[in-house]
Amino acid sequence: MAELKLLVTTTMFLITVLVMPPNSATLHVPTCRSYCGNITVDYPFSLQQGCGHPGFRDLLFCINDVLMFHISSGSYRVLDIDYAYRSLSLHDPHLSTCDSIVLGRRGNGFSVEPWRSPYISASPDNVFMLLGCSAVSPLFQLLFFQGFADRHLPCRNVSGMGCEEYYDCPAWDWVGRGKAGSRFGSGPPECCAVSFEAIKAINLTKLQCEGYSSAYALAPLRVDGPHEWAYGIRATYSVQGGDEFCGACEATGGTCGYSDVDDHNDDGVKQLCMCGGSNSTSNCDSGGSSSNKGTWSPLNILAGFMICASTWITSHK
Ligand SMILES: *[C@@H]1O[C@H](CO)[C@@H](O)[C@H](O)[C@H]1NC(C)=O
Ligand SMILES: *[C@@H]1O[C@H](CO)[C@@H](O)[C@H](O)[C@H]1NC(C)=O
Ligand SMILES: *[C@@H]1O[C@H](CO)[C@@H](O)[C@H](O)[C@H]1NC(C)=O
Ligand SMILES: *[C@@H]1O[C@H](CO)[C@@H](O)[C@H](O)[C@H]1NC(C)=O
Repeated sequence: MAELKLLVTTTMFLITVLVMPPNSATLHVPTCRSYCGNITVDYPFSLQQGCGHPGFRDLLFCINDVLMFHISSGSYRVLDIDYAYRSLSLHDPHLSTCDSIVLGRRGNGFSVEPWRSPYISASPDNVFMLLGCSAVSPLFQLLFFQGFADRHLPCRNVSGMGCEEYYDCPAWDWVGRGKAGSRFGSGPPECCAVSFEAIKAINLTKLQCEGYSSAYALAPLRVDGPHEWAYGIRATYSVQGGDEFCGACEATGGTCGYSDVDDHNDDGVKQLCMCGGSNSTSNCDSGGSSSNKGTWSPLNILAGFMICASTWITSHK
């Protein structure tokens, strides 16, 4: 009887040792959430291929703990991702601020690839202030051709922020322009504030501007002058088609991802629910799994055999 107990115990021990580690590894749901520095990168964003929403693929990169955001107009440092308000705060080192004005078309501006534009945009309460634009800039031509006689029109305040206030910044003393003379009388304004919706792409080359500044309101705080504005670009994001797919996937213990793609064409890119060992086109409770579900590994069979054998031995002694 003592030998039998030892045999059963040994058998159980072997089952545990042999079977549990591979089994739990197989059932482990891949994690797509990660960190870069102190910023959490979570759905719809990701730092790994196949993770997150396909509209946000090849967008964020973590380089030496610095989170970078890459779109067609250039690379920006991500200062913050606000998942509740669906926005990101971006920094471009060549963006003019209250303390310095950067000319020479070195700034990125802000424009996204057409395929990505439904997903990422500049926030409506973000003001772009275009600096030193040519008189023949399409900024003024376009509006002229649309029948706006008043040249003030393209340039306007956005969320209470505009060039009038920006001219009070010390950076303008240094540049030696600003308050003197009429800005709109003869030439184009030295600064023209626009919202992103008005022109859809801040491309300094195309707009023939020398530089730009960008600021956003840290709502709902009322700020007292341009030295208190937050300089940078506030981008908003939207998950096209809604969050239902990912919500259902996560509710059933899955992780949201997409099928591998190598071009920038949305056709053929499918959202996937990764269920640990299998991928589903809906969620982890559905029968839509594409692989591996319900198969028996040799270890499962061995474990089952050993349990049966030990039960049989126990009951027959
Ligand atoms: C991350 O760390 C930087 C300084 O290292 C700090 O300024 C910033 O507020 C932190 N961001 C978050 C989201 O904690
Ligand atoms: C599930 O999809 C992800 C992302 O495309 C892929 O990396 C992974 O290998 C797939 N897993 C299976 C079991 O097919
Ligand atoms: C900006 O405009 C120029 C000239 O029209 C064009 O060649 C360039 O591709 C544009 N840049 C982006 C990022 O769209
Ligand atoms: C923008 O606001 C400032 C200060 O409130 C005001 O002086 C200026 O006329 C406004 N500019 C435009 C273009 O509306």
